[in-house]
Amino acid sequence: MADSSTKGNANPHPTPAGLLLDRQLFADQCKISARAEHGGMVVCGLWMAESDDLEAKLKLARQTWDESRHAMAFYQRARELGADLDLDPPQSPVLQPLIPFLMEARTLVERSTLINLCVEVLAVESFHATKPLVDTASRELLDFILADEVTHVQLGKWVVDHFCTTPEAKARHDEFQGRVDEALAKGRQTLARQLADQAIALVGCSVTAPGVE
Ligand SMILES: [Fe+2]
Ligand SMILES: [Fe+2]
Repeated sequence: MADSSTKGNANPHPTPAGLLLDRQLFADQCKISARAEHGGMVVCGLWMAESDDLEAKLKLARQTWDESRHAMAFYQRARELGADLDLDPPQSPVLQPLIPFLMEARTLVERSTLINLCVEVLAVESFHATKPLVDTASRELLDFILADEVTHVQLGKWVVDHFCTTPEAKARHDEFQGRVDEALAKGRQTLARQLADQAIALVGCSVTAPGVE
């Protein structure tokens, strides 16, 4: 293991242990994230095309563009880290509990509740947790994506406020949000386990020295 105090090799964002995720492990995560972003792009584009509310349509068009850039950036980073790019990377286990709701969500409120107020919230939490564990270039990638994801969460809140204007609509939203929140909790548990597994990897020998690209 390299000495993290080596001159000229300082980590500007040191982790408590001064270690970074294994390069291959993060490359695999980039592939999984690229698949999730790609999926987000597709569903946002579909929902954008279906929307008959002009303001919502334009906001979803912007999100579709954002997700395409995120997918491209994750694929590119995976390639830079030496990963083979397969066309069908594994589904994110963190997002797995939320996938069944994709078929159920029929209205834009339900769809935005699922994607913008649940999946994106989980993505923001995951990216923030990962940032201290990756190299500088990967951290910059996550910062770039996080800036957009925060606006997508805001878009979800806008959709709910814009369309849920009656007590009945609010009640339907609250009921759906409650069920999605249960799936969100399961996703959070999976994320916590994943982070714990990575911590075990960090104290083992599967690490990359800080500053090493
Ligand atoms: Fe995204
Ligand atoms: Fe997003």
